[in-house]
Amino acid sequence: VQNEALARAESLIALTPDYPEPGVLFRDVSPMLADGPALRTVVEAMVAPYEGTFDIVAGIEARGFLLAGFAAALTGVGMMPIRKAGKLPRPAAAVSYALEYGTATIEAPGVLEGHERVLLFDDVLATGGTLAAAESLIADLGATVIGSAVILELEGLGGRAHVGDVHAVFTV
Ligand code: PRP
Repeated sequence: VQNEALARAESLIALTPDYPEPGVLFRDVSPMLADGPALRTVVEAMVAPYEGTFDIVAGIEARGFLLAGFAAALTGVGMMPIRKAGKLPRPAAAVSYALEYGTATIEAPGVLEGHERVLLFDDVLATGGTLAAAESLIADLGATVIGSAVILELEGLGGRAHVGDVHAVFTV
């Protein structure tokens, strides 16, 4: 039954060829998020391997916010948003990382006191640059990333090699 529910959820990820550029097949999780049973199934699957092992969840802007928020509500823990640079008045930590062209920076508020074990959320694991930067950010705050959960892993990009333990609900 769980496998059927997961297969149904995966079927709700919309595929758009040649977006944002020719040759790329873009996967949009919006229809899956809009479906109550699919959303619950996927968030439960993201949390399941880590049940009882984390004190707080963190989500990476932008879609990781949603997932971490749902997971926090589901498990009764709090949530820390990891922001793109320039959004926080007093970031407690910042990490820059390489993109295909240029660099990006993410920042965190210093709200992890008393929350040693962090479960990280994002929607997609591609090259792994974003998740690796978030892991380093949380280490800089003195906390431990016990693992990460994503909806979708794009296996061909090899991101898993650059990050710690990560659970992907779907792999393509
Ligand atoms: C996407 C996605 C992940 C990241 C994965 O975010 O939501 O955060 O890329 O790629 P990586 O594994 O190669 O680092 P995007 O940069 O599109 O930003 P957004 O969430 O603000 O749209």
